[in-house]
Amino acid sequence: MDRRDLFTRGLAFGAGALTLGSAGASAARPTLASAAAFDRDASFPADFLWGCATAAYQIEGAVREDGRGQTNWDVFSHTRGKTFGGDSGDVACDSYHRYGEDTQLVKALGAKTYRMSLAWSRIFPEGRGQPNMRGVDHYKRVVDTLLENGIQPYVTMFHWDLPEALEGGWRNRQTAQAFGDYAGYMAGQLGDRVKNFMTTNEIRCFTDLGHKVGIHAPGLQLDDTAVNQVRHHGVLAHGLGLQAIRAATGSDVRVGFAENPNLYAPVIETPEHMEAAKQAMRHDNAPFLTAIMEGAYLDSYLQSAGASAPKVEAGDMAIIGAPVDFVGINVYTTGYARADASPQGYAIVPRQTSAPRMASPWLYITPEAGYWGVRQISELWNPKGIFISENGCSSDDAVVDGRIDDLDRVMYLRNYISHLQRAVQEGLPLKGYFLWSLMDNFEWADGYSKRFGIHYVDFETQKRTPKLSAEWYRNLIARNALV
Ligand code: GCO
Repeated sequence: MDRRDLFTRGLAFGAGALTLGSAGASAARPTLASAAAFDRDASFPADFLWGCATAAYQIEGAVREDGRGQTNWDVFSHTRGKTFGGDSGDVACDSYHRYGEDTQLVKALGAKTYRMSLAWSRIFPEGRGQPNMRGVDHYKRVVDTLLENGIQPYVTMFHWDLPEALEGGWRNRQTAQAFGDYAGYMAGQLGDRVKNFMTTNEIRCFTDLGHKVGIHAPGLQLDDTAVNQVRHHGVLAHGLGLQAIRAATGSDVRVGFAENPNLYAPVIETPEHMEAAKQAMRHDNAPFLTAIMEGAYLDSYLQSAGASAPKVEAGDMAIIGAPVDFVGINVYTTGYARADASPQGYAIVPRQTSAPRMASPWLYITPEAGYWGVRQISELWNPKGIFISENGCSSDDAVVDGRIDDLDRVMYLRNYISHLQRAVQEGLPLKGYFLWSLMDNFEWADGYSKRFGIHYVDFETQKRTPKLSAEWYRNLIARNALV
């Protein structure tokens, strides 16, 4: 099989690896003709949406301005020992004031879309009650600025910053109701100009990391019964939010969510391992993505939870499982599964200690993650559209002579996107991609110690500088093809 055959089978990334792997062997060097062929095969559909993503608490700062209420993350980050170096989002990237400049960063990339989140506590400082119009007007200005610059906003209603005044937080079912009310209210305020909303971001993170593992706000380590109930309130919030956004907007508004399912790729691309990986993904996300897509909890989840299974009220599952317009998945890393003879039919394969990672220790480099996520979700649930609502990585960026040559980020992104290109080439319904992140920002418990941006932020001066990866992404967007 020669390199052309590889291309026609959609394995453009395989060909790239071949060329790299045999560097030095002159026979394998790309000719002009093969380089041109690569360009053609690496293109994306003309309407593919390229964008960047951020989240309110990670970039805005201005935590005491214009009537914003306190959030769980304000409290958590100001609790000794909870974040790296005691870092907080008090100032962050100061985007609350610099959104005009940040819009120009997006525009300079040629990106046509930007995923941002709203801070619930700027709208309802106490989580519910009377809306704070200064907060509402702020987001109208942000959205209008994006639109004036030809950038479509994708607006996430909740990206982890929960109004502190909501008693019991996510342990209280009323919080899901309050979220629905807030989401409906803001969709009503913005729905004339924002056409794409996402309800919640990464339910597993704000439930489990905050209430089971305890490394995110509110920093609790609850028992299984309480954790399963918190998870249920998380998916219920999504469902109530979806319902409320739909009720508040017209038929031209699309609603989805951004989840980070635990992903599983097959150890080898053979039918039995592919099926095993798909089942591993479906079962491992039973309380989250699977519940939303199927409107039910899997028997295997309920059986293993036993007496600690969540308390579900009549009608909840229909609300949770209401059809969405699109699915967003945040893609960072995948696990691997293989077929085996167990009743469940799969085994999860442990990572080797030598598995490569980026600067964040959890961020194993697994370029095929997004491809398998998109393919499995499509095969299992056939949603109308799928977005990569986040993909990106941390690296040890250094400023050298005013430049930030983040070669490893370019390597990471290029490899992940090459597998996404395979997905679109195979006709999977992947519609767009949001790079995490537009700029370095407050990385939760890691504070400012981990940089995920394609723009470098000097947190002393707030100066933004494009990294090599920004230049690379600009080229990719301009050609609508892998570069
Ligand atoms: C997430 C996040 C981001 C993180 C990013 C890197 O949704 O997990 O949306 O807030 O910063 O994933 O860890």
